Amino acid sequence: MLQDKKIVFSGVQPSGNLTIGNYLGAIKNFSRFSEDYKTFYCVVDLHAITVRQVPAELRRRTYETLALYMACGLDETKNTLFVQSHVPAHAELGWVLDCYTMFGELSRMTQFKDKSSKNAQNINAGLFTYPSLMAADILLYQTDLVPVGIDQKQHLELARDIAIRFNQIYGDTFTVPDGYIPTDTMKIMSLAEPTSKMSKSDKNPNAVVYILDSKDDVLRKFKKAVTDSEAVVRYSEDKPGVSNLMTVYRAFTGKSFEEIEREFDGKGYGDFKLAVGEVCADGLAPVRDEFARLMADKAHLEDVMKRGADEAAYYARKTMSKVRRKIGFVN
Ligand code: TYM
Repeated sequence: MLQDKKIVFSGVQPSGNLTIGNYLGAIKNFSRFSEDYKTFYCVVDLHAITVRQVPAELRRRTYETLALYMACGLDETKNTLFVQSHVPAHAELGWVLDCYTMFGELSRMTQFKDKSSKNAQNINAGLFTYPSLMAADILLYQTDLVPVGIDQKQHLELARDIAIRFNQIYGDTFTVPDGYIPTDTMKIMSLAEPTSKMSKSDKNPNAVVYILDSKDDVLRKFKKAVTDSEAVVRYSEDKPGVSNLMTVYRAFTGKSFEEIEREFDGKGYGDFKLAVGEVCADGLAPVRDEFARLMADKAHLEDVMKRGADEAAYYARKTMSKVRRKIGFVN
């Protein structure tokens, strides 16, 4: 098979209900590559078990994440959609790359520090080596471009370093990937604590808007969102709550910050929060409807997963055979 298109790879963990951070920072952008790139979008279940999961929930969320990819506009005939554990080469290359990743590099990863402080009773080795498995995901497909939110930048840079190191030792083996980080929505913040990232593992349900929340829930959560005492809709670093809401409003309406400031000039936060809730809920409504339709046909989702894994495995095999040869494994 001749492959002359550039390659895009990205992944989402099925470790919780997906948020508007996942949507605006990553998934919404995935479909823009479908025509001009060869695209691989993966449900990264191997990554999810670095934090303890309830088996039935992990299984359900794996289907749901795949269905959400599709509901967010990824056509399964134009994108390779698959589940990470269905392509064993991820784990295989993950191990190989563990041996080319330094302890010091992994120790510096802020996500590791953050997750180990939140899961002090389960700081397992997988949590520590998570970034080399992520590098394997990316390098396995000779990826050129990785669309992610800014929180994944450090992992991406490590993937580049690992690729460069491997190539220096063995000669050209891996494409060195670039990130595609959307400047306007790269970090959607928590509604309760607008100086921290909105995260699907947040325990406070009011801090997070889920893609599948009902309209009432979306409106209620934005109504409760933390702002400040100034009562002026203005984008500014010292107004993280309002600025975050403006970022969400801009993402769903396409309006600029100046237009938004003018629109709400002289109005209170109540009106503004209601408007943000409305555009967000209305923007997500088609995704919710399509998701419900897709989830009703599990056999179809299984078929998509199966075909995606077959296709991904074909590409993964090519890279693995190169890697095996270069390292000196007997074929
Ligand atoms: P995960 O599952 O935490 O998040 C999936 C994607 O959503 C982005 N994201 C956000 N963007 C903006 N604002 C937010 N509040 C926000 N929260 C999450 C993330 O940056 C990500 O793009 N390690 C990855 C999964 C992964 C992966 C990969 C990604 C595994 N292998 C290979 C790319 C390539 C993660 O935990 O994403």
